[in-house]
Amino acid sequence: MQSSNVIVIDHPVIQTKLTELRDYTADHRKFRALLDEIASLMVYEVTRDWPTTPKPVQTPLERTTGKVLARQVTLVPILRAGLGMADGVLKLLPEARMGHLGVYRNESTLEPVSYYQKLPPDIASTEVLLIDPMLATGGSGAAAVSFLKKAGVTSMKFVCLVAAPEGIDALHRAHPEIPIYCAAIDRELNEKGYILPGLGDAGDRIFGT
Ligand code: PRP
Ligand code: URA
Repeated sequence: MQSSNVIVIDHPVIQTKLTELRDYTADHRKFRALLDEIASLMVYEVTRDWPTTPKPVQTPLERTTGKVLARQVTLVPILRAGLGMADGVLKLLPEARMGHLGVYRNESTLEPVSYYQKLPPDIASTEVLLIDPMLATGGSGAAAVSFLKKAGVTSMKFVCLVAAPEGIDALHRAHPEIPIYCAAIDRELNEKGYILPGLGDAGDRIFGT
């Protein structure tokens, strides 16, 4: 399903795992395993339109021309919760470089606070996947995209699990050209900025804090 630069990957296997993930009885071990699996499954859809380049290959029978990804890949999790998706993505894109952006929300203002940045030096020439399971107010995502643009990134996708309509609007207002991939668009934010029905605090559930 796709509308205005938002792609909802509503594959039945992903939806089944997302439902298990939402369940409050899933402990951090189960939560991590499910998040890892969903992130892997999402990669197929997220990377579908990446350009390829021809590459000669010698099979056991003859020489032919195959295809490989045209550009290197950089995976950028937003700390902390984005780390929960990283291994799942790396299973399918093991050559990817990784950058890290530390951003947390101020609990009362909900404004993003950036506290750490480390990117590969050649990130500007790569395909970038910015990953974070939750897009709530959109503040953290928008701040991370701004930082990556300043680093020269021109090809980037935002990949999350659960998005709130408010977060999609905010990210699109700030960065309309950045595609958002998610497994679900939930109903709304509550007064504390949590996504409803959501899955709670992703970082706490991943790390058991
Ligand atoms: C969570 C989540 C996003 C952010 C989304 O991080 O992982 O980064 O909230 O909210 P927003 O769209 O309103 O900015 P959190 O601030 O809880 O930090 P943590 O991952 O370190 O726990
Ligand atoms: N961050 C989370 O981890 N969960 C939410 O519902 C909103 C922001």
